[in-house]
Amino acid sequence: MEELPKVARYKPYYHELEKGKRYRWCSCGLSKKQPFCDGSHKGTDFLPVVYEAVEEGEEVLFCGCKHSADQPFCDGAHNDLQDVYEEDDPNSEANLLIPVVAADAQGRAVLDGGCCVIQVSRIAKREEGVMKLGELISRASGAQHQSQFYAEVAKGQSPILSFGDSDVIIFVAQGNGELSISGRPFAVNPEQGVYIRPQEAFSLHNPHDEPMHLYISVCPLDVAPKYLAEMPGNFNDDFPERTIGIDPDKRQTMSNRFFQMLVDKTMGSKVVTQFIGDIPKSKAAMHRHLYEESIVVLKGEGYMWTENLKTKVTPGDVIFLPRKQIHSLECTSADGMMLVGVIYPGDNPSINY
Ligand code: FES
Repeated sequence: MEELPKVARYKPYYHELEKGKRYRWCSCGLSKKQPFCDGSHKGTDFLPVVYEAVEEGEEVLFCGCKHSADQPFCDGAHNDLQDVYEEDDPNSEANLLIPVVAADAQGRAVLDGGCCVIQVSRIAKREEGVMKLGELISRASGAQHQSQFYAEVAKGQSPILSFGDSDVIIFVAQGNGELSISGRPFAVNPEQGVYIRPQEAFSLHNPHDEPMHLYISVCPLDVAPKYLAEMPGNFNDDFPERTIGIDPDKRQTMSNRFFQMLVDKTMGSKVVTQFIGDIPKSKAAMHRHLYEESIVVLKGEGYMWTENLKTKVTPGDVIFLPRKQIHSLECTSADGMMLVGVIYPGDNPSINY
């Protein structure tokens, strides 16, 4: 029978590495010097896995549960070894002392480390034909990797938009219409993700009286939208699949939570990833990620917590989460919370530490 490794802990180990140094990661789980080998594997079937750091200061998450399929790194496997996601009591004595931050005049509630919750209805929006466009996340709001815009498209044809060399990932929150990506038409519907390759442009046609609502993520950031006079014909045919909707067969479990990848590497997006997920009524234990994340709350209410502050989140709000910021998203709705996230750089939303 195959010998199973011992779980050293249900979380990865964060390390900053020295370029060229060889690290011997413990695969058996018996070492007293986790996550590194101390020779305790002697007499077992396990051997240490050697990793040589490629960059100075390289940040890695070494697997702690020893069940990762991406050894020596964490792939989120620890979440599936437990029935319940690690939780925290929102009513503990310490948590009850944490104050609730109110949104400012621009609809932003700023928490520790620049994490913030943004009320989309209160941000400034610029009108361009039938489209209203507002900036949600940018370098000005503390982001280093991704920006995000909110767009409302009324009946008619929107302007043609381009974000230069950046990858563009859209989430259609409301309305149906036709999206042209560099001349290639796609039908778009609510709860769909859309992928636009660097250098391509896009425009939307809304044939209905109800406006379309869209969240537009741009990675890397610092690219202002360019309004083009003509649609370019540079659709990248190497990546023909550009829209993706919810498919229950593609749902992945993460303890008692679910998520489904929308735009990801299978569509050609290597370092920007969009996913949709739901979380039950709960408060996850505080944790952090190596990627920067934006989250749109689609359904359900709760609180976003950082070390010393928290703020209310309601449907339609956008959460910006800087890399390595400790946090927890609490769902207080009995029916759970549904959200869509974009992580960058990253391809696996189940990795946390
Ligand atoms: S002690 Fe675990 S692999 Fe060596």
